[in-house]
Amino acid sequence: MSRQRKVKTTPSRKSRHSPAQIIALAALGIGAVLIVGLVILAQVTGKGPTTVAASDDVLALGAEVYGNTCAACHGENGEGYGIPQAPALNETEHAWHHPDGQIQEIIKNGGKVMPPLGDQLTDGEIVAVIRYIQTWWRPDQLRQQQARSLQYPLQ
Ligand code: HEC
Repeated sequence: MSRQRKVKTTPSRKSRHSPAQIIALAALGIGAVLIVGLVILAQVTGKGPTTVAASDDVLALGAEVYGNTCAACHGENGEGYGIPQAPALNETEHAWHHPDGQIQEIIKNGGKVMPPLGDQLTDGEIVAVIRYIQTWWRPDQLRQQQARSLQYPLQ
């Protein structure tokens, strides 16, 4: 009678993953974390302008137009609510979500309460006041707004 050796047919828990597999899994995990990190980093620091592309002269004109025409309703520094319905135009609210072309349109044609100002301001003054407002936004807001403005630029 021959002696039969008992052969294990199921691998022990210990050996279910070879060291190579463990290294591969770890690499995948680290890779996933890295990718998520890079995506977040790109959102925050991604390419695109984060400063307003306008000369000092244009910004000075924009400040003048703003003070004369917009500040009574939108606040001296864009903080809003000179009249109850006028939102902030600075970084605290929604203004920076609008692309350049849409802001130009709002200024020219007004809103429900805001008067149309297209007859009162030149095209150059409207661009200048938009650039001036943009100086209140955070770099990441400005970058997103400029990306959207590629789809809806100044007309
Ligand atoms: C008489 C008050 C008044 C004046 C003057 C005025 N606005 Fe407004 N503005 C408003 C109101 C109110 C709204 C909200 C929309 C509405 O109800 O008309 C608004 C909306 C806006 C918005 C959209 C904001 C958002 O978050 O959606 C922008 C941009 C804007 N105004 C820019 C300007 C600029 C620039 C000037 C000056 C050239 C100006 N406004 C002058 C009252 C005014």
